[in-house]
Amino acid sequence: MNVENALVHRPIMLRESATYLNLQRGGNFLDCTFGGGGHSRYFLENFQNIKLFAIDRDPGSEVHARALKESFGERFQFFRITFSKINALSLPPLEGIFFDFGISSLQLDDPRRGFSFRHHTQLDMRMDPFEGISAREFLETADRQQLEEAIRDFGEERHWRKVVDLIMKNRGNDVLRYADWFAELVATYLPKDFRENIHPATRTFQGLRIAVNRELEEIQRTLPPAFDLLAAEGRLVALSFHSLEDRIVKQFFNEKAGKALNCHEKYNDRQSIAKILTKKPIMPSEEEILNNRRSRSTKLRALEKF
Ligand SMILES: C[S@@+](CC[C@H](N)C(=O)[O-])C[C@H]1O[C@@H](n2cnc3c(N)ncnc32)[C@H](O)[C@@H]1O
Repeated sequence: MNVENALVHRPIMLRESATYLNLQRGGNFLDCTFGGGGHSRYFLENFQNIKLFAIDRDPGSEVHARALKESFGERFQFFRITFSKINALSLPPLEGIFFDFGISSLQLDDPRRGFSFRHHTQLDMRMDPFEGISAREFLETADRQQLEEAIRDFGEERHWRKVVDLIMKNRGNDVLRYADWFAELVATYLPKDFRENIHPATRTFQGLRIAVNRELEEIQRTLPPAFDLLAAEGRLVALSFHSLEDRIVKQFFNEKAGKALNCHEKYNDRQSIAKILTKKPIMPSEEEILNNRRSRSTKLRALEKF
């Protein structure tokens, strides 16, 4: 079996995503994070009256897009771009836009992509391997401040100082070149935390991945133009996997709903141009979490434009 065939991504909160997008209504929808096409396929199979546009920056998603094109013809159209370039596409007004942030299992589990510390592979971590610099180059060239931002802010690693020192000290050494070697280096020097059932390099890897792909910046830059593309009563639905993504979505939704962002701002300083449909984020059911452990930290938020 070749690597592609062995990789599977299990889409999360399928029914909940379809319900909050109100696909029942029919019309034009956009999936900004197509990946292996799990959500897109479910939407197209179950809602005959929709046309779906889809985006992904990863060339690996093209093969999955071709499969959907074969099944759904004119009802499906794929673009391989980063979602922050959404305005470069000429799209009709959209009834709904969907985001499923982060990386897919197809990326994480593929040893050739250098995302996972389980593999002896070049540390790459780019969702689009033709854009930007690899994680290895980042470790070799980033200044101290950029490393701190990656490990402390994006990775939320408590021992960030130690990790940044380790990186600086090991520059030019093969240990920063390979995913498993780098993970081992981090694991050797970080104190073990027995309360947490995760590899000691997990947070460092998360931070690096977010930095290399500029993930948070991409989300921040895309939500405003995405909202502008929505038709009246169009919906924006986002699945987040960690608090940093979720915070950006929550703040953007609050802003559009006219809520004060902090205690210094008066409530009615803001105009309300949308309604938040999820007062509290929706989480996967216990059954889904049991069947798919990777779904456990997912949060769904939805917004409807007036
Ligand atoms: C969690 S996966 C989506 C999985 C998908 N919903 C499925 O069911 O197969 C996230 C996808 O979003 C893509 N992605 C992340 N950031 C992106 C960006 N800024 N622009 C375009 N695609 C992006 C990744 O390449 C990845 O394929």
